[in-house]
Amino acid sequence: MKNPRQTGHGPRGASRPLDRYAVFGNPVAHSRSPQIHAAFARATGERLRYEPRLAPLDGFAEAVRQFISGREGCAKGANVTAPFKEEAFRLADERTPRALVAGAVNTLCFQDGRILGDNTDGAGLARDITENLAFSAAGGRILLLGAGGAARGVVEALLAFSPAALVIANRGADKAKALASAFAGERLAPRGMGFAALAGEPAFDLVINATSASLAGEALPLPDGIFAAESLAYDLMYGKGETPFLAQARKGGAARRADGLGMLVEQAAESFFVWRGKRPEAATRRSLMRQLRDT
Ligand code: ATR
Repeated sequence: MKNPRQTGHGPRGASRPLDRYAVFGNPVAHSRSPQIHAAFARATGERLRYEPRLAPLDGFAEAVRQFISGREGCAKGANVTAPFKEEAFRLADERTPRALVAGAVNTLCFQDGRILGDNTDGAGLARDITENLAFSAAGGRILLLGAGGAARGVVEALLAFSPAALVIANRGADKAKALASAFAGERLAPRGMGFAALAGEPAFDLVINATSASLAGEALPLPDGIFAAESLAYDLMYGKGETPFLAQARKGGAARRADGLGMLVEQAAESFFVWRGKRPEAATRRSLMRQLRDT
């Protein structure tokens, strides 16, 4: 018979099976999450393994089940990225209030045979804006561009800034109006409109791009005058160099501009906290942002 310590399944310390985590997506090879969570684990002294998992477009639920029933180590949780966040929402047995509001799940916890679904995207965006960028939108005017899944996921966090106005603008105006009306019962009712209708609006203090236009390298058909002089323009997308939206914001006069790399690290830190009960320190998170920016 094998000594349990030699098999890596011993009861204590380093010989205990590793807790396992994964990120599911398609594609997933580009994901920075394995690098981010490995750095968080090192910084907090947590023993875990985190791996990318490519799920077939028609096989997300099956891929998650396979991961959970894997015999190596103990599957504790997962992140979910495009295009599976809505499917992850449906797969979960229980959902947190913030996942219910977002209608999407980016963080799964596996507990006692059940799947819990959470969403850390809004919290990640809020922390990046308020702490890393030290920007306050309280009492200001916020413009959210886009009305798809990414936009829905951050509306609640934007309302929590207590702005004076939240406008949701989309290429398809009906979709913007529908998203706005889904939050009509909140303390501040957002307004939805098409891009052209922005021409009649006063300038905005915070402008968030949640469309996927930057992915296609396209600029948005925005009227002049939407960026207030001291405004922050924030693109949920990130990539090498300036995104098309941030170039547009620079030309439009936005004093401050940020891409979604900070949000990426902060939503990961929030997932890590949900799983491990430990939040990587600000210095760790920021040095990771710099490292990711350089690679
Ligand atoms: P995601 O999960 O990234 O939000 P999505 O739900 O497909 O993806 O939503 C994509 C968003 O980007 C939508 O708001 C879409 O606008 P439409 O509803 O009018 O299609 C927006 N979008 C995508 N490409 C765009 C482009 N080239 N110009 C403007 N908006 C664009």
